[in-house]
Amino acid sequence: MLDKTQKDWWKRAVAYQVYPKSFQDTTGSGVGDLPGIVSRLDYLQTLGIDVIWLSPVFASPQIDNGYDISDYRAIDPLFGDLEDMRTLIREGKRRGIGIMLDLVLNHSSDRHPWFQRARASRDDPCHDYYVWRDGVPGQYPNDMLSVFGGPAWEWVEEVGQYYFHQFAPQQPDLNWENPALRRELYDMILWWMDQGVEGFRLDVIDQIAKEPDKKITNNGPRLHEFLRELSAETFQKGCLVTVGEAWGADIQRARLYSAPDGSELSMVFQFEQMVLDQKPGGAKWDLAPLPFVKMKQSFARWQQGLHGRGWNSLFLDNHDLPRIVSRWGDDGEYRVQSAKLLATMLHGMQGTPYIYQGEELGMTNIRLPIDQYKDVEILNYYNEAVAKGCPESRVMESIWAKGRDNARTPMQWDDGPNAGFTTGTPWLPLNPNHTAINAKAALADPDSVFYHYQALIRLRKTYPVFVDGDFTLLDAEHLTVFAYERKAADGRLLVVCHFGADACRWTCPADWKGARVLLSNYAEPADALRPWEAVIYYRPAGT
Ligand code: GLC
Repeated sequence: MLDKTQKDWWKRAVAYQVYPKSFQDTTGSGVGDLPGIVSRLDYLQTLGIDVIWLSPVFASPQIDNGYDISDYRAIDPLFGDLEDMRTLIREGKRRGIGIMLDLVLNHSSDRHPWFQRARASRDDPCHDYYVWRDGVPGQYPNDMLSVFGGPAWEWVEEVGQYYFHQFAPQQPDLNWENPALRRELYDMILWWMDQGVEGFRLDVIDQIAKEPDKKITNNGPRLHEFLRELSAETFQKGCLVTVGEAWGADIQRARLYSAPDGSELSMVFQFEQMVLDQKPGGAKWDLAPLPFVKMKQSFARWQQGLHGRGWNSLFLDNHDLPRIVSRWGDDGEYRVQSAKLLATMLHGMQGTPYIYQGEELGMTNIRLPIDQYKDVEILNYYNEAVAKGCPESRVMESIWAKGRDNARTPMQWDDGPNAGFTTGTPWLPLNPNHTAINAKAALADPDSVFYHYQALIRLRKTYPVFVDGDFTLLDAEHLTVFAYERKAADGRLLVVCHFGADACRWTCPADWKGARVLLSNYAEPADALRPWEAVIYYRPAGT
């Protein structure tokens, strides 16, 4: 177990994201719940993780699956109650697994009492907790658009004003310029810290300092000032792990966010690599092949840019992204090899790795007819694109490739009805491949993707070079091999990953001949790299 009283313990930690709606149902409602997570803690302990990032479980009308919070201190009855949360925190701690809550501080639900008061009267102190502009109905303050489609402004007759929403209209943006609002948020965070949570993930944190009049959404001028205040008032009073979601972060900004003095956050999720396979300047739905060389160089820049000057988070999957094995790997013949390769590539790097539920099983994307999707973003995109005359077949290709529900299909526990996820009707269909791809089968197979993740976690805890080592990209221009070296006081690593189904001749650097193999996704060594082969070599210092 990690000693979480040590400063920067999270640099040695591995996190696992639970999307509660789709993890484990215990009531037959078809929706996962907190007791379900408790019932699977032993599984997570077997995997070897140290913290769970729990997507929002707070009271919410569920317009955006809980990213629209109506009471930050209450658990939504869908998931259980506060007592269930206390049990989860306690049972997690017993197994060395901390709970990291998902804080949505950029916006609330329109059902939050603050917004109910704000929309009723301009004189209410809560009115200024949100972002309002005067106007007349039908004439928006400006032409800004919401991330989920449509105008970013919504008219409220009672106050004769528009409010600003970067996401759905039911997710009004909070006004961080208001000190009383900030205090309310800090008090709420301190209250959760008292409940024993070990960290927070901060939803779209780079958008809190918006200035709509200048059309500024992320990286507003006061962003880092707000973050330093937030951190000093809350996180720094405990030994917490914090990660901010920051689509607009570049390396320079990430150094501020994750500054080694701890004045802001532990780290951020940045998305530079995750937007490479869309048309330049396009939206996520504009599909393009992955530019492999650019992807390697981008990872290398981040590895080197934050080494000693900040901290990386490492992830390929989350609840907003399609399944990585379908996206960058091969979810057909080489599903197992390519899932292991992607894990190896990522877990060999410096940073805190995040595993998204089911990634450790090599779960894949799904193709549903449009009427079976639930995600507000998918449905809005479909309606807008089809109305604009985009051929439906192309719209569906985009949704199948990039839609968020790919990641949100229920967890595949076994080959029984509904994969052991629920005894009721699942809120989103299960992937039919659950009869073959499931946790029970993975645990019974020593060669499974699961045990590869387990081995990677174990290596990180055994060899300090995984945590501390620097990073050198090898053969930067190679079209299928992603190879890099890591070096620290205890020794060196060479990580070699061959992205492709063809055999490939790749010559190991001379000083690596005969080095020890720490982990590979093939049983025996060979002269050429085989389909989707991934190997980690190790040399102790001085050899
Ligand atoms: C983040 C969340 C996403 C949500 C959005 C609005 O990007 O990860 O799921 O829809 O913020 O809260």
